[in-house]
Amino acid sequence: MSTTSFPEGFVWGVSTSAFQIEGATSADGRGPSIWDGFSADRVEACDHYHRHPEDVQLMKDLGMAAYRFSVSWARVIPAGSGKVNEAGLDFYDRLLDELLAAGITPYATLYHWDLPQAIEDNGGWPARDTARHFADYAAAVHDRLGDRVDTWFTLNEPWVAAFLGYGAGIHAPGRKSAADAFTAAHHMLLAHGLAVQALRAGGAAKVGAVLNISPVLTPAQVSDFGRTLSEEDAEAVTRIDALANRQFLDPMLRGAYPADLLPIIERSVGLGHVQDGDLGLIAQPIDLLGVNYYTPLVVQAQPSEPADPAFPGSEGVLFCTVPTAVTAMGWSIVPNCLSLLLGRLSREYPGIDLMVTENGADFVDVVTGDGIHDVDRINFIEEHLRALRAAVEDGAPVRGYLVWTLLDNLEWSDGYQRKFGLVHVDFATQRRRPKDSALWYRDVIARNGLPE
Ligand code: NOJ
Repeated sequence: MSTTSFPEGFVWGVSTSAFQIEGATSADGRGPSIWDGFSADRVEACDHYHRHPEDVQLMKDLGMAAYRFSVSWARVIPAGSGKVNEAGLDFYDRLLDELLAAGITPYATLYHWDLPQAIEDNGGWPARDTARHFADYAAAVHDRLGDRVDTWFTLNEPWVAAFLGYGAGIHAPGRKSAADAFTAAHHMLLAHGLAVQALRAGGAAKVGAVLNISPVLTPAQVSDFGRTLSEEDAEAVTRIDALANRQFLDPMLRGAYPADLLPIIERSVGLGHVQDGDLGLIAQPIDLLGVNYYTPLVVQAQPSEPADPAFPGSEGVLFCTVPTAVTAMGWSIVPNCLSLLLGRLSREYPGIDLMVTENGADFVDVVTGDGIHDVDRINFIEEHLRALRAAVEDGAPVRGYLVWTLLDNLEWSDGYQRKFGLVHVDFATQRRRPKDSALWYRDVIARNGLPE
């Protein structure tokens, strides 16, 4: 492997999610989801539901080998539980046929945050039944699409769905309760375990989950990772790592909650929602861990600091901004953290393949007569690929890299102002135009490597 090339068979592609691109929120019997009403923006998004042939062609032209998309639960089971809506599944059926005809390998995610409203009305993720309903939905999807999808991801970023949705209230359904957030997180983990069982029972080839793992470090460590920490800062880093990362990694991959997290959960909600046998169910063996990485969490000890609602139990920890380059989201650009993170996962959770299932950046794009010259996005992706490559060189079993994302789309509570796409979308006309980054990425894929 030269200094710029990637291992043979390395998987290159892009990721999207249903609610962010599909639109057509009432087509063909789809039921309402929690994001339909929560989003302040119109929800037509990229109208991918009707324009998927064009979007698949675009991916083919760009040389994509893999496409990670999510299935909308509310399309498949409009009431969340019970009757399956075959017309909703027909859409994914068509999409898969087009992908396979284009030579693109599909990776399906079953939950990318768009919970059926009916499930929320019955208690949402803090209700234990939701986990069982999710497994039934997973089985129904696999039943219809399993002959064409090899790799299934259960959940996307459960931390975000639980703690921004039920704790901080800045994502749907907008609840602000630490107890609900921890309970939701546990039931998502349970839903993952039950869905893995259902997928395996149906004969799924490969099953995994997608987590947003955030390296946690102090401001001084951003420039010098080896830096020794004070006892107080080390405790702050470890506590946030438990809340953000190990809360999901350890139950899924080790069958136990981290010992340092249990007292925090117990103080917030007790442990009554964690029943005997749950952790065994959650820790079903999986084949692939999807890692979404954008930016690190930078923290330090600050005794007077109240808890951040997204991190209940974080009192005494200050979340810091550091003087690095940032994306338009204000997220610090620290590519080296991707190496740290992949290295850590391969050492601390050995025996499982890794895939970077999302990485990318929001920048302000300028549309000119001769294209969209998004040099910042190219640099962002290139630097992160160099970091990924370094981790592979050190032995991390990273099998692929998917850019977030194919199209400019509906960025949740932030709406259409955020531009993460390799392809520009004019939302007035739905015209798609590949940005320079898309063409640059096409060349990376073609040479299975970075420019010299
Ligand atoms: C991760 C989420 O999975 C995705 O839906 C979101 O758009 C990106 N982060 C960017 O915020």
